[in-house]
Amino acid sequence: MAKIRLLLAVLLQLFDRCQPVPRYSNGFLYHDIFNNNGNGEISFNGVQLHVESEQTFVFTSHGGNITLPCRYWYEPPLSSPRRTRIKWSWQPVSGAHETDVLVSIGNRQRTFDRFQNRVHLREESAGDVSLVIEGLHPNDSGRYRCEVIDGLEDESVNIQLELRGVVFPYQPHHGRYQLTFSMAQQACEEQEAVMATFEQLYAAWEEGLDWCNAGWLADGTVQYPITLPRVPCGGWGLAPGLRSYGPRHKHVHRYDVFCFSTSLKGKVYFLQHPHRLNFTEAAQACVGDGARIAKVGQLYAAWKFTGLDQCDAGWLADGSVRYPITNPRLNCGPMEPGVRSFGFPAPRHRHGVYCYKAEQRSRGEGVVTV
Ligand SMILES: *[C@@H]1O[C@H](CO)[C@@H](O)[C@H](O)[C@H]1NC(C)=O
Ligand SMILES: *[C@@H]1O[C@H](CO)[C@@H](O)[C@H](O)[C@H]1NC(C)=O
Ligand SMILES: *[C@@H]1O[C@H](CO)[C@@H](O)[C@H](O)[C@H]1NC(C)=O
Repeated sequence: MAKIRLLLAVLLQLFDRCQPVPRYSNGFLYHDIFNNNGNGEISFNGVQLHVESEQTFVFTSHGGNITLPCRYWYEPPLSSPRRTRIKWSWQPVSGAHETDVLVSIGNRQRTFDRFQNRVHLREESAGDVSLVIEGLHPNDSGRYRCEVIDGLEDESVNIQLELRGVVFPYQPHHGRYQLTFSMAQQACEEQEAVMATFEQLYAAWEEGLDWCNAGWLADGTVQYPITLPRVPCGGWGLAPGLRSYGPRHKHVHRYDVFCFSTSLKGKVYFLQHPHRLNFTEAAQACVGDGARIAKVGQLYAAWKFTGLDQCDAGWLADGSVRYPITNPRLNCGPMEPGVRSFGFPAPRHRHGVYCYKAEQRSRGEGVVTV
């Protein structure tokens, strides 16, 4: 017994000297040494690290802030705090390498690359290491990994972030099949959107998107969605589906593009104005109303997520004229919901205008678990 007491004293001294980072591990469980029941015996007790997320799928359809939940705890609870390292990493939908998002040790945090200065840990309670992402961009979707590292141990949990959005075909003012891959990418970004992925186009096709012009997708393939087979769109013989031209040469071949837009933290509206406006006047009228002339992606998002329904043709920022219909009716285009387009009229023509006004939203709004 005395020997054990001595051993304990030596061990405690050793650990004292190692402060403030007492780490020891058998490679599987954490071990705390403690004086079990006051009789001087040493017992080794397995302390296990748990990392958990209450939502491993997070869907959102807006561009505000979002929280990816993650917390950790020890079982049984620790008698004294440990120094843990928290690491969040991200793997984009494109399948590119996993990259660091945020690393935190003690009260020091470091954020990386595209996440710099727009992510932080929520830290609402002990062990809360949920990641708050601000100013969400459609490109932010993908797989996030919340990792807790303590000594040699390392536990993690994956959380899939998906941004619900709307896919729309886009053709610039100079006509059909004009865009190389990089021009297509830029065209989407100018409309407050990103290039759609295959999965997004497929989901849009399932929801009824039918479009007979081939467009670039983010993976460099060119495809188009057909729900009603017809002669100019691959013929009668083919079943409905996505028609694919496969990967095309990114610098040489030219097509339209499919863009993907999530709803933004703002509002799109048809400007009430006493008379109709040419393109220059339309853009100015929105500014006069404390807004900006809306982009195509914004109009689609408003149609899809806020049910914007307006049977009035209006200018948009790219010089096209469109209107959104959710309740099809006579004299408002075809009998299906959709965003109707009049293409790109001459800028002197007179129409209404759709404006976009940015709005603040409260944090976390729009988080939906499935
Ligand atoms: C979005 O991602 C694509 C490819 O993944 C990239 O080329 C593009 O620049 C990104 N856009 C933004 C605004 O980050
Ligand atoms: C629109 O009308 C204004 C006059 O109200 C004129 O100065 C301007 O040049 C017109 N713009 C176009 C594109 O026709
Ligand atoms: C997002 O979070 C930041 C900082 O926490 C805050 O300033 C901003 O208002 C939030 N934005 C929205 C849209 O909630």
